Amino acid sequence: MTAGGVAQVDNVAMMSIRGISKSFGGIRAVNNASFEIDKGTITALIGPNGAGKTTLFNIVAGFLRPDAGQVILNGQDVTGLPPHRLFARGLMRTFQIPAAFERMTLLDNLMVVPAGQSGENVLRSWFLWGRVTSEEVHVRQKAKEVLDFLGLTHVAGEYAGNLSGGQKKLLELGRTMMSDPDIVLLDEPGAGVNPTLMVKLADDIRRLNEERGYTFCIIDHDMDLVAKLCHPIVVMAEGAVLAQGSMEDIRKNQEVLDAYLGGGRSARIPAESAT
Ligand SMILES: Nc1ncnc2c1ncn2[C@@H]1O[C@H](COP(=O)(O)OP(=O)(O)OP(=O)(O)O)[C@@H](O)[C@H]1O
Ligand SMILES: [Mg+2]
Repeated sequence: MTAGGVAQVDNVAMMSIRGISKSFGGIRAVNNASFEIDKGTITALIGPNGAGKTTLFNIVAGFLRPDAGQVILNGQDVTGLPPHRLFARGLMRTFQIPAAFERMTLLDNLMVVPAGQSGENVLRSWFLWGRVTSEEVHVRQKAKEVLDFLGLTHVAGEYAGNLSGGQKKLLELGRTMMSDPDIVLLDEPGAGVNPTLMVKLADDIRRLNEERGYTFCIIDHDMDLVAKLCHPIVVMAEGAVLAQGSMEDIRKNQEVLDAYLGGGRSARIPAESAT
């Protein structure tokens, strides 16, 4: 997982989110939010619509700058680093709305992920033809392995635009796998996924966590998925972190229940299953 076989230090926060705030005009989207994502966990980030979850992800992944606060990744302050720099440090994220290249095949969608290939530069590729070829072979091999892991080999040559919503979510997960990340942020992986594919998606996430050591932070409204996969669970409401703990702790927390009942635009009590 970590390059160079460096000894792993356990029980250390892989990521610390410290006092993050972000306003859009008069809207305080994230309000002094702090929590930690421990190495090896599948941490959930839940909360009613508009709680600030996606905004916080965007800050953590370098797509937005916070007004205040810090993001610490593996002990280093990475606040405000652009996405490609965070990518190089092992952080990947997916989007609430999948962003596949519709007119490219699944295989090609995966092959365009890794950064810094010498093939990106036409002149270099002219002079370093042999090297580009071997790199491409390597990337193609990796993409095939990812498709195999996700059970998508049979649609490898299909245009991404022809995939179902659930298959696009799997492709998103596959894109994160191309760089063997340490930590992956998934924004609503379950949204719009049919129940059968949902079981598979959950299983794939668990396998990546258990077999490959990925640390995950997952935003989702599907409480069955969250209960099945995640520990701990962090609850946000109105930009702030309200509570964190096990699903049992969360369900008993009166502030959490109040936030879900009164706060969000489509509030759902965590004990309910959502589709
Ligand atoms: N670019 C933006 N400009 C203005 N307001 C924004 C912007 N992005 C988010 N907001 C506002 O910030 C608040 C938090 O939004 P955010 O998308 O982070 O919530 P969320 O918890 O991800 O909600 P959902 O569960 O619906 O995805 C909302 O009031 C939203 O309208
Ligand atoms: Mg969101």
